[in-house]
Amino acid sequence: MDTNKVTHNPQPISRFLQACHRQPTDATPVWLMRQAGRYMSEYRELRKTYDILEIIKTPELACQVTMQPINAFELDAAIIFADILPPLEGMGLSLEFVKGEGPLIHNPVRTAADVAALRVPDPQEALWFTLEAIKQTRAELDSRGIPLIGFSGAPYTLASYAIEGHGSRNYEHAKGMMMGQPELWRQLMEKLADLVGHYLLAQAQAGAQALQIFDSWVGSLSPSDYRELVMPYTRHAIEIAKAGGVPIIHFGTDTNGILELIRDAGGDVIGVDWRIDLTAAWQRLGPNVAIQGNLDPIALMAPWAQLKQRAQIVLDQAAGHPGHIFNLGHGILPATPVDNVRRLVDFVHEYTQQA
Ligand code: CP3
Repeated sequence: MDTNKVTHNPQPISRFLQACHRQPTDATPVWLMRQAGRYMSEYRELRKTYDILEIIKTPELACQVTMQPINAFELDAAIIFADILPPLEGMGLSLEFVKGEGPLIHNPVRTAADVAALRVPDPQEALWFTLEAIKQTRAELDSRGIPLIGFSGAPYTLASYAIEGHGSRNYEHAKGMMMGQPELWRQLMEKLADLVGHYLLAQAQAGAQALQIFDSWVGSLSPSDYRELVMPYTRHAIEIAKAGGVPIIHFGTDTNGILELIRDAGGDVIGVDWRIDLTAAWQRLGPNVAIQGNLDPIALMAPWAQLKQRAQIVLDQAAGHPGHIFNLGHGILPATPVDNVRRLVDFVHEYTQQA
């Protein structure tokens, strides 16, 4: 094990993109979902002046926040600062981030008339701010050799928010429409798939070097409902995005029961959470995809010795398999100590560094 300090991506093609293509790397690449956010004092400072939607819609600010974790840690990729929900605004929904509570949609989609009224906007018009932020951020990142990830919510996770109007435990309204009015559900999912696909494609065209599709709530579905009522729409969105020519990361949580279906819906990299061993995930997913994951974000709250032990378990399970991207199994939590993030990122590089 070499304990020299790792410098940012000395090689011409970044180790993150190499791993997306399942090529061998000089060390395992690492980035963290939600790596820009409230656990950083720089972000909290900016939030005293601007709310989250103002940051997202002002390209200079979105660029600045995207760079905060890149400036603080030896991360191997940046993810553009945005959220999965602004595309719903472009469809005609009214979105607010309520302090201390999370996102709220004031006019959730419940009826046939609501679905019919939804627009499928041109991302260049409805989401120009994120596309512009991508261009500006690429200019900053290129000199450092760090690639930029663009992202979107997947049709199912977006449908859950659009129908429920907020986060949900049981998805009564969303699954209620899916099961009770399947034709209406399909109309909604078609619109979402179209928007997600073209939004991802536009991000690649604006300069995103990889794309992640977040299906955060997909683990709430039975395998047959996923296969029949969700998978075709995720697949359609991924098919559209593929024209961008950049690797696609397909992430979901709680996907143990549908892991092979997630892979079959598409994506070059499959993101998994901590509820599955990486060894088992690799056996089930086979050799044609890379894997991203899968440390429990709560481990970052533990003392370093405990955190290190858990990171080591993840890396030992990946066993130097080409195509492992180290990440958390879900987003980093606001109470995470910054020192633990720094030590974790450095440890991943040091522990996996090739002689
Ligand atoms: O990873 C990054 O650094 C990029 C930024 C990013 C945000 N949201 C910024 C954000 C990303 C990739 C997301 C994705 C997102 N947003 C998801 C999918 C990933 C996941 O965690 O499951 C979901 C479900 C959302 C919806 C959302 N946005 C919720 C439920 C909340 C409130 C809960 C919370 O964490 O506060 C948000 C707000 C949000 N999006 C914050 C950030 C940094 C915190 C808001 C704040 O600054 O007050």
